[in-house]
Amino acid sequence: MSKKLFVLISALLVAAFVLSACTPKVEEPTSDQVEVFSWWTGGGEAAGLDAMIKIFQAKYPDVEFVNAAVAGGAGTNARAVLATRLQAGNPPDSWQGHAGQELIGTYVAAGQIEALNFLYEEEGWLDVMPETLIPLISKDGNIYSVPVNIHRANVMWYNPTILAENNIAVPTTMDEWFAALDALKAAGVETPLALGEQWTAMHLFETVLLGTLGPDAYNGLWDGTTAWDSAEVTKAIDNYIKLLSYTNSDATSLSWQDASQLVINGDAAFNVMGDWAEGYFRELGKAPKTDYGWAPVPGTVGSFQFLSDSFVLAVGAPHRDAAIAWLRVAGSKEGQDAFNPVKGSIPARNDADRSLYGEYLLSAMDDWKANVITGSLTHGVVANDAWKSEIDTALGLFLSSKDGAAFQTALVAACMASGPCK
Ligand code: GAL
Repeated sequence: MSKKLFVLISALLVAAFVLSACTPKVEEPTSDQVEVFSWWTGGGEAAGLDAMIKIFQAKYPDVEFVNAAVAGGAGTNARAVLATRLQAGNPPDSWQGHAGQELIGTYVAAGQIEALNFLYEEEGWLDVMPETLIPLISKDGNIYSVPVNIHRANVMWYNPTILAENNIAVPTTMDEWFAALDALKAAGVETPLALGEQWTAMHLFETVLLGTLGPDAYNGLWDGTTAWDSAEVTKAIDNYIKLLSYTNSDATSLSWQDASQLVINGDAAFNVMGDWAEGYFRELGKAPKTDYGWAPVPGTVGSFQFLSDSFVLAVGAPHRDAAIAWLRVAGSKEGQDAFNPVKGSIPARNDADRSLYGEYLLSAMDDWKANVITGSLTHGVVANDAWKSEIDTALGLFLSSKDGAAFQTALVAACMASGPCK
């Protein structure tokens, strides 16, 4: 071998060695499939997931992606199916869970999911995931999920044409909202405020609690520093009763998509729903500001009531290596920038490519940075499953009785039984 060739080969070998030492070793999955469980099946929900699945499939063409999604907004059906599977020792490899009490109080408490600190280290996620989120997915120094997004719960969607035709400015306070709703009713608008099935009523209620109490007292409801029998909670319930009087009578039979669609179809003026509604409006080909407008729920200006969808790794996952590959995609910039512009959420990561996001989501990104952050009840942040289900039972009774005093008594009892009032 010539001396020159020898030097060249040696240099190449050294370069290859240095490169392999610097690149973290990511094992290719050998499993031939991965089963991922969620409740994103349609109506604006599936498209975001599909975008992320595409990235997974391009990266891991030999792994079949088994989409085990179960239909039903807010996971009401899916979570029941998941609980049955977990009980039977038949977990999907990875599933969707909300950051906060839902994750920590349910799956971590039951030892059903693996700690993912190793992935956070390998992928450098601690540098790019928001500091507010890490404690909500951690217990005793272990991190248990990979957040894909931040959704905002306290959004009021409105029909700009209906407001303009009735000379109504976008309300920012509860009183302005009532005045607007009264004016619309007087003008013959049959459904000033659109509402859907029971979980959407809980969603509306949590925003009214925030709008009436303000962020500090609202946060105090969940750590025991605000009393559930206080006058401010009574006031929130009164506001809620009043708001319900402007809603459609067929609410219980409508999905969140049906209810939000009343707004863009011109059949209702307002709807309170998380920003997955924006994903749905876009899927329907609607244009921001023209077909739909948005504002924080009246009384909640300056507050961002959030929730975060995250994915977990099952203890005993049948395809553990492929599930880890899925989680790498879910936590990646590429995965999040594919998923979120379609889903109607902002990425959990703080290094998003802003040019991919529409007008609404850019405003949500700015508010997430500037606003006071509070957590959602309906979507798993502030209360564990036991407490939430007691609140839900109380709400169900209240929705048929409209007895505010009995509702408040039941809310106090729920906090005593399963919350920090014990
Ligand atoms: C939430 C979930 C969102 C969206 C919504 C409606 O609980 O976090 O991603 O899917 O339900 O189904």
